[in-house]
Amino acid sequence: MPTYDLIVIGTGPGGYVCAVRAAQLGMKVAVIEKNPTLGGTCLNVGCMPSKALLHASEMFEEAGHSFAKMGVSVSGPKLDLPAMMKFKQEGIDGNVKGVDFLMKKNKIDVVRGVGRILGTGKVQVTGTDGKAQTLETKNIVIATGSDIARLKGIEIDEKRIVSSTGALSLEKVPQKLLVIGAGVIGLELGSVWRRLGAEVTVVEFLDRILPGMDGEIARQFQRILEKQGFAFKLGSKVTGVEASGKKLAAKVEPAAGGAAESIEAEVVLVCIGRVPYTEGLGLKEAGVAMDNRGRVQIDAHFATTVKGVYAIGDAVAGPMLAHKAEDEGVAVAEILAGQAGHVNYDVIPGVVYTTPEVASVGKTEEELKQAGVAYTVGKFPFTANGRSKVNQTTDGFVKVLADAKNDRVLGVHIIGREAGEMIHEAAVLMEFGGAAEDLARTCHAHPTRSEAIKEAALAVGKRAIHM
Ligand code: FAD
Ligand code: NAI
Repeated sequence: MPTYDLIVIGTGPGGYVCAVRAAQLGMKVAVIEKNPTLGGTCLNVGCMPSKALLHASEMFEEAGHSFAKMGVSVSGPKLDLPAMMKFKQEGIDGNVKGVDFLMKKNKIDVVRGVGRILGTGKVQVTGTDGKAQTLETKNIVIATGSDIARLKGIEIDEKRIVSSTGALSLEKVPQKLLVIGAGVIGLELGSVWRRLGAEVTVVEFLDRILPGMDGEIARQFQRILEKQGFAFKLGSKVTGVEASGKKLAAKVEPAAGGAAESIEAEVVLVCIGRVPYTEGLGLKEAGVAMDNRGRVQIDAHFATTVKGVYAIGDAVAGPMLAHKAEDEGVAVAEILAGQAGHVNYDVIPGVVYTTPEVASVGKTEEELKQAGVAYTVGKFPFTANGRSKVNQTTDGFVKVLADAKNDRVLGVHIIGREAGEMIHEAAVLMEFGGAAEDLARTCHAHPTRSEAIKEAALAVGKRAIHM
């Protein structure tokens, strides 16, 4: 008899949540983790530290720029970067301890070391002392996550040329920060360092920021970020970075080719996406197939090409988001328990935690056009929302996209303060197949920013009240 019902390799949000759900369902579970702390990218070098720094740097900027106009007089705030980093670390520690607690509470064995799949039902774990042990299990879930994508010829030293990991722990505020990639990491961490005093230039290969998000939202968001001080070089690529003394010089060329220019920086942040992490897992030898982008190939039930081996999270296809990984973890545990675990990939919210935030769920206008779906649009700006007006935080708008035939909501996109909290009423509505009319007829508390969602839904039927 195998010792375990399930071994999960990796303890990020995909892995640890899968383990907890499996334990709840009565399975004997072990997790394998190669890092000294549990929680994966998300808790250690991703979601959590970035959100701590976004919060702290936002407070710093507010204290310096917004307090006075509300009649709150503070003398010019001073940055204590080591204290801010300590605040970040305390947040990480608290969350990581929380995962340790969940493992104990659910009687999940935590095995430290690098996991390697030897075939159906067998996982080898090599500890830091180099000693290997083989564990036996009925099922294996690969939840090994992702790693930073690298740019050829640009060596990341995590001091001056950094990935997100180095950018979360800079020892001083760079005078000039060059960001390669106008995706989520570039805009979030660019915001952190801009607020703390860096001049931020973002070089993006495409002719727009935030590819994948609704185009109109991305255009307006870019204008907002430019007003905040971001400089963008779109349709451009960095072909090399040279160091001379304390300065770095990045060679930037038009994406389509042409004359290069040199942009000076103290720190360069490379954030051009992430790649699945499957190193040392022994997938090839075990016969686990991968797709052409190095992701573990799975079927609709998370099963790989090897019996009893499943995969979830950043290591498989789909958006590289913690909540997507978590939901897949729950679904696969339920499938293993004979239940009907399922993830609705049409309703996975995405949030950029800048100020204002950008939040989105469902289809973009571009996707609907491409699919040939007839749709109606309702929009409502925060400049016309009472609560936003009194708080003087009126940047952004809500956009509701509904099916022209039956009014069903197909997508909701928001730029605005707290957009990341507001998006969930749209997500719930969409899970229930709701219509714009349902949103519009739902009583919303006044005065709230969420009233802008109701108004945008009313605007689908051309009957917004406050516009
Ligand atoms: P991971 O969290 O990457 O965890 C994988 C774990 O597996 C790691 O602990 C690793 O050490 C371990 N592992 C790998 N191989 C082995 C092995 N062979 N043996 C043992 N252990 C192994 N997503 C959001 O939804 N919201 C955010 O705000 C957000 N912010 C982010 C900010 C940054 C800077 C970054 C980099 C990412 C952010 N993400 C965010 C993305 C999010 O972190 C990932 O989508 C999420 O962590 C994926 O979860 P996972 O469980 O698949 O993998
Ligand atoms: P990303 O995929 O969001 O953005 C990468 C950007 O780099 C794209 O705009 C792309 O066009 C551009 N790019 C690619 N190659 C380039 C090149 N050679 N030169 C210039 N630009 C180039 O990836 P990012 O920002 O690295 O984030 C990685 C993952 O982490 C994302 O998939 C995201 O989902 C996740 N994440 C999520 C967060 C959130 O949910 N708030 C926060 C941070 C990360």
